[in-house]
Amino acid sequence: MVIITFTANPSLDRSAPLARDLRVARLNRLGQVYRLASGKGVNVSAAVHAAGHPTLAIVPVDTSDPLAEALRRRGVPSRMVPVGHRARTNLSITHPDGSTTRFIEPGEPLTPENQTALVSTLLASLPGASWLALCGSLPPGAPVDWYVKLTEMAHSVGVRVAVDADGPALDAVISHAHATPPDLLSPNVAELQKATGRSIRKAVKAGDLQPAIDAVQELHNRGVPRVLATLGPQGALLSCEDGLWHAEPDPVQPVSVMGAGDAALAGCLLISTRTQDPALCLDRAVAYGTATVLKPGSEVPTPADADAISLTVRKLA
Ligand SMILES: Nc1ncnc2c1ncn2[C@@H]1O[C@H](COP(=O)(O)OP(=O)(O)OP(=O)(O)O)[C@@H](O)[C@H]1O
Ligand SMILES: [Mg+2]
Repeated sequence: MVIITFTANPSLDRSAPLARDLRVARLNRLGQVYRLASGKGVNVSAAVHAAGHPTLAIVPVDTSDPLAEALRRRGVPSRMVPVGHRARTNLSITHPDGSTTRFIEPGEPLTPENQTALVSTLLASLPGASWLALCGSLPPGAPVDWYVKLTEMAHSVGVRVAVDADGPALDAVISHAHATPPDLLSPNVAELQKATGRSIRKAVKAGDLQPAIDAVQELHNRGVPRVLATLGPQGALLSCEDGLWHAEPDPVQPVSVMGAGDAALAGCLLISTRTQDPALCLDRAVAYGTATVLKPGSEVPTPADADAISLTVRKLA
């Protein structure tokens, strides 16, 4: 059964190396520019597709947009919904020390007509799907509770919903969770921290998971039944009514962390089409996330890449 992803604010990502250290307020020459169709849902669909599982990425983009061409080149099965404006382009610069600086555009507003067209395409695609993943930030113009409405719509036709969002879109999903809970929420440390107002990052880095666990518990109390909280090199937590698990990968030397969270969600959704077993879902999430950081750019891992990752899953509660 197909895994559908919805990317309301896709982008044509451009990445390029800087041969010398960045000189602020001066001319900086970029090396070879690499272009990739992106947006969190597109990345999730790319990983699902690489596993040979059916997927469909719903993307607002005109067929003449360079993003449409990049989507076709990436080979991600997608349904492009024309919106009459250019998709945003984001820029990532890799510095000589391997760190990256990113410049992110807000994206053009989605008009009410654009929103209606996207919702109709989604509605036509949903029947028979196993999951709908609502991914990434909302563009200007989209209602802040759009993901809540789309969750209701998917549930009305029996499709489970995963949300990987940030900022006001995530806040809206959490504040409506008692009435309209997503089946899975997958925040990273920054999102968990912002959504709950708790200080988590430093503790996780120091190996103390308690503040992250408390934050996940708070999300349950607010109505979210299943949380996959990704913790970067510290792996991830998965919490649901059956208990709480932590999976930690053996240390690796990352090549590029771009898209790690998206691949983790893809790994979790892929296994969730077959079983809800929390430890197995968490295992696949961390295997996919960690396999991604060993690949250059936003390249997605194959199931064999994920199988090659060593990790430990422990039940904490
Ligand atoms: N440095 C790392 N070493 C090993 N594994 C990592 C590292 N960074 C990320 N991962 C793996 O990727 C998963 C997701 O990472 P993270 O929590 O950083 O996601 P994210 O911040 O949502 O990423 P994205 O930028 O894709 O949104 C982690 O659960 C882990 O398995
Ligand atoms: Mg993420």
